[in-house]
Amino acid sequence: MTQAQLIDGKAIALQLRKKIGEETDALIKQHGIKPGLAVVLVGEDPASSVYVRNKGIATKKAGMESFTHQLPSDTSQQDLLRLVEQLNQDARVHGILVQLPLPKQIDADKVLCAIDPDKDVDGFHPINAGRLMTGQPGPVPCTPKGCIVLAKSVRADLTGLEAVVVGRSNIVGKPVAQLLLNENCTVTIAHSRTKDLASVVRRADLVVAAVGLPQFIRGDWIKPGACIIDVGINRLELEDGKTRLVGDVAFDEARLVAGSITPVPGGVGPMTIAMLLSNTLDAAKRPIT
Ligand code: GUN
Repeated sequence: MTQAQLIDGKAIALQLRKKIGEETDALIKQHGIKPGLAVVLVGEDPASSVYVRNKGIATKKAGMESFTHQLPSDTSQQDLLRLVEQLNQDARVHGILVQLPLPKQIDADKVLCAIDPDKDVDGFHPINAGRLMTGQPGPVPCTPKGCIVLAKSVRADLTGLEAVVVGRSNIVGKPVAQLLLNENCTVTIAHSRTKDLASVVRRADLVVAAVGLPQFIRGDWIKPGACIIDVGINRLELEDGKTRLVGDVAFDEARLVAGSITPVPGGVGPMTIAMLLSNTLDAAKRPIT
């Protein structure tokens, strides 16, 4: 039985990061601008702590300035808003990222709205969501942007494809659907309440799975030859007490039917950081472009 082509997100991300590092060097040498990224973490969620640490390491590796702010889990909204305002005013900081989720005493929407839209390297500010929707330039959310790069690595032109996005979050589902529309796909946004989800997914030439449920999308839901981009990162408890990371797609089943598929880990995950660095570089370049 033939198996789907593996889309190597790790390799593609490394290549992009190398190029971003070279462009960062040039920006420093030619214009004296060193891109700076501030990442704010509130609390000690273990997964978020790992993501934030990896973002800091990648930022420095690219030759950029990294500012990490770790605040206690009982931080008030007012204190967090004060820090965001301080980062908005700091000329060394070109990009600001507040790691989500935030503790329950903090209104995440209020915090995201407080970030200067031009420093919003997550692309989550309503102004940037509006820019994406209306086709104006601005920072685009990192994971969705990474999904498009991976899909185009196997098929340069996505025009006319039936794309089904499973998941409707502001972070992935909605923006990736908009980006696929910009690539001239016919886009369906499905979700956990969609009727007969299997038959909707079966129509798709391109599936973006972002529901957050382990191995939810089965092999027999997949159209033969389809391209599968799996955004899910779920920790599965095994019988021997160990854990394993799995995506939202039942990978072993899907790879026997799909034309191409991203693995978990090593697919979409590494692309998110590469896109974050790309957005930070773009923000730092803005005064000279
Ligand atoms: N938490 C999970 N993914 C993300 C992301 O892309 N950005 C931020 N800020 N928080 C997240």
